[in-house]
Amino acid sequence: MNRTFTMIKPDAVANKNTGAILDAIIKGGFRIIAMKMLHLTPEKAGAFYEVHKARPFYGELVKYMSSGPIVAAILEKDNAIEDFRKLIGATDPTKAAPGTIRAMFAKSIDANAIHGSDSDENAKIEGDFYFSMMERIG
Ligand code: RTP
Ligand code: MG
Repeated sequence: MNRTFTMIKPDAVANKNTGAILDAIIKGGFRIIAMKMLHLTPEKAGAFYEVHKARPFYGELVKYMSSGPIVAAILEKDNAIEDFRKLIGATDPTKAAPGTIRAMFAKSIDANAIHGSDSDENAKIEGDFYFSMMERIG
């Protein structure tokens, strides 16, 4: 079993899509190991996206990710990283395959509904950023 980390982003929470997205994740075969709702400060959002600090969209990304509540979760499944990125679709929702979470719920490349880790290593770093051992099952 492998793990990935996800955030349902502020646009999806604000648009009342949290339940539908969690349903798609569970029906997609992922087991929820940890989950919580929180509102990131700009400082915490900036720290989470530190790897993108040099990118031109970093400022907007930090502002956006701290603009409203998110739902963070650790998920478990065989081949979790790749399968989850397949389930959520391309970063730009206009390029996301039909039926993917971003195709169904994302409005733009910035407000793109959901995050998925890009590697096993980053999934561990990201999960550890949000959750203590006491906040996880299994
Ligand atoms: P995420 O990390 O959120 O799952 O998204 P991702 O891997 O598909 O994309 P990534 O390259 O890691 O970028 C992180 C987030 O930054 C925003 N972004 N904007 N304007 C742009 O060209 C641009 N590129 C990326 C997106 O909101 C993306 O989810
Ligand atoms: Mg990424």
